[in-house]
Amino acid sequence: MYQEKATVLENKKITSQCYMLQLRAKNIAREAQPGQFLHIRISNKNQKPFLRRPFAVHNTENKNEFSLLYKMRGETTKLMRELKKGDKIDVIGPLGSGFNPSHEAQKYVLVAGGIGLAPLFFLAKKLADDKKEVIFVCGAGTKNELLCAKELSQIKIKPVLATDDGSRGIKGSVNDLLNNYLTKNRKDKIEVFAAGPGMMLKEAARICKKAGVRLEVSMDEIMACGVGVCLGCAVKTKNGYKLACKDGPVFKAEDIVWA
Ligand SMILES: Cc1cc2nc3c(=O)[nH]c(=O)nc-3n(C[C@H](O)[C@H](O)[C@H](O)COP(=O)(O)OP(=O)(O)OC[C@H]3O[C@@H](n4cnc5c(N)ncnc54)[C@H](O)[C@@H]3O)c2cc1C
Ligand code: FES
Repeated sequence: MYQEKATVLENKKITSQCYMLQLRAKNIAREAQPGQFLHIRISNKNQKPFLRRPFAVHNTENKNEFSLLYKMRGETTKLMRELKKGDKIDVIGPLGSGFNPSHEAQKYVLVAGGIGLAPLFFLAKKLADDKKEVIFVCGAGTKNELLCAKELSQIKIKPVLATDDGSRGIKGSVNDLLNNYLTKNRKDKIEVFAAGPGMMLKEAARICKKAGVRLEVSMDEIMACGVGVCLGCAVKTKNGYKLACKDGPVFKAEDIVWA
């Protein structure tokens, strides 16, 4: 884990709500693994917000650079939107434990709901580099909110799409696509990795359990300290409470006691 002053290289608008922030901080970029996160502090002149916010590592461009994909929510993301090339921000990371794909699967299905795409792109890239077969399922409200189709095509992955209004891909959810895929490919050894809203992950867990397929999920808990001290990010598991910031954010879906 490092604390670095990361230099802003680019801060680009991707959709009406989402931005891509490219940063340089060599230790973090070198060490980060898919599914890990960074704890970022950006404050105004009144030192607000005081607490750091967690963001997944979206990609590492080379050994010095990495990117984040962020959705506008509150104070920190508003300040992030204003960042310009050359600005410096305080970043701690990489933190937590990331995705753990086995070497045995024939196919790796990645299921991204909305901004859940942020950690999964990095995993897709690593799997594609290792010549694994990746099926990337992406969902959003409308076609204008879908993220990173161009980036995925650059790593030769054609995403399978779902939108709530049917403006691109199927009209439905990523879990409809996941369910169809697992039903049609019953004989293959498949592993699934998912990130997105809690309800989406719970449903993905149900589908994968029914299909007898291993699933890992990235739990998007609200965090404060980010390093296992405040106990604010507890996740109920079959082995007692675990901390999303330290034991996760990636967990085996079968271990979680879904609310
Ligand atoms: C491990 C991890 C990785 C994350 N990665 C990303 C990422 O790559 N990109 C991204 O855009 N966001 C990510 N998030 C969520 C991000 O940390 C929050 O959206 C953050 O609070 C935004 O800060 P803010 O100050 O702009 O908004 P805040 O003022 O903190 O929050 C605004 C509103 O969003 C709610 N909120 C805050 N955090 C969450 C949350 N985790 N889930 C649901 N609602 C929340 C708050 O209750 C509040 O109502 C991640 C969260 C975790 C735990
Ligand atoms: S955020 Fe403090 S223990 Fe996880």
